[in-house]
This record gives sequence, structure tokens and C-alpha cells, in this order.
Amino acid sequence: MTTLKEIEAQCRNCKKCRLCEGRTNSVPGAGSAKAQIMFIGEGPGKDEDLKGEPFVGAAGKFLNELLASINLEREDVYIANVVKCRPPGNRDPFPEEIEACWPYLESQIEAIQPELIVTLGRHSMERFLPGLKISQAHGKAKRYKGIDGGKQVYYPMYHPAVALYNGSYRGVLTEDMQRVPKLLKKIKDENLNKQP
Ligand code: URA
Ligand code: SF4
Repeated sequence: MTTLKEIEAQCRNCKKCRLCEGRTNSVPGAGSAKAQIMFIGEGPGKDEDLKGEPFVGAAGKFLNELLASINLEREDVYIANVVKCRPPGNRDPFPEEIEACWPYLESQIEAIQPELIVTLGRHSMERFLPGLKISQAHGKAKRYKGIDGGKQVYYPMYHPAVALYNGSYRGVLTEDMQRVPKLLKKIKDENLNKQP
């Protein structure tokens, strides 16, 4: 199995899609290799591209606050994106770019084996849980097929950036985040019960 560090190095040198052309840095992901929770956004923005780190701009500041509200720091979790290089002008990534980059995210999930995957925003959710509406699906955990064909628990949340444009989402995101610790405990208890 490829280690997280190896995956990060591969992303930094990757030229598998045209998003490599406009990037300053690719943004493989950051956090703990032993994380129980992975947060998965859509793709790097301007600040992330400049620093090579995920969620370091305004949306990232709010994500840090959300994590702090449940006593977590960024170092406790793993934060990644569906595409690792910034789409020009922050446009949505094209399907072929998402396809080209997907194996990196799969390898990251395989290396970390998280108990819980929190998708941030509807594009990230759509990749794992196709066909759902975020207005209905946010804040509800769903067991669905994982990358290894087994079951994986997903928890869709709105993208933290929406709270920057529309303050009323701040409360929704905060409430949804508040449910994460109990959810994680429940998943771990269930997994323990499944062991022989
Ligand atoms: N938005 C994302 O989806 N990912 C980042 O890393 C930053 C902003
Ligand atoms: Fe490679 Fe992904 Fe960057 Fe495309 S977005 S160049 S596939 S790392």
C-alpha cells in the first residue's frame, strides 16, 4: 500500500490533467495518517494554491472554528479535496479532471482507513453519494459503499464557504458539526460489536 507521504509526493509532481498547468502548488491534503475523520472538500482555491495546504483561506478559517467547537484541531483529522490542483478562476472541476485525480483520494482513504468521511459541499458529496440533494442530506449519516467495496459511513455537510456568503448557513454548519462526536462514538461502538 502507498503511504500518505508517497501519495502527497505523487500529487506534488502530477501532470495527469490540465489543472497542473495553472497551479502554483498542488494541494494533496494535510493532517494525521491515523485520523478517524476525513474531511473532503472540492478543490483548492487561491490561498490553498499559493500555500500548497488545504483550507487555509477564509473558508478554512471557519472550518478551523467548526473543528474547535468539537475540540478537534486540524492535526487530529485529515483534510483533502476531490481535486488537488486549483481550477482556474475557481471554476468547478471538469469531470475528466475529477476522474484523473480520483485515484489519489482513493489511495488516501485506503491509507488512512477513516471511521467517518465528512463531505464538504455538494460536489464532494456527489462523488461519494450520487443523486442526493444537499439541502436534504446534510447532517445525516449514511452507510454506503466504500472505496474497497465494503461499507463506509459518510456525513454530508454544507461547504464552509457558503457561510461566508450567507450567514444563515453558519448555524446549520455549526449544528451539523456538533453531531459528529456522538456519531463517531456510535460508529466505533458498532464496529467493536462486529468483531468476533
Ligand atoms: N475550498 C475547498 O473545497 N477546498 C479547499 O481546500 C479550500 C476551499
Ligand atoms: Fe494531477 Fe490531480 Fe493535479 Fe490533475 S488535479 S494535475 S490529476 S494532482
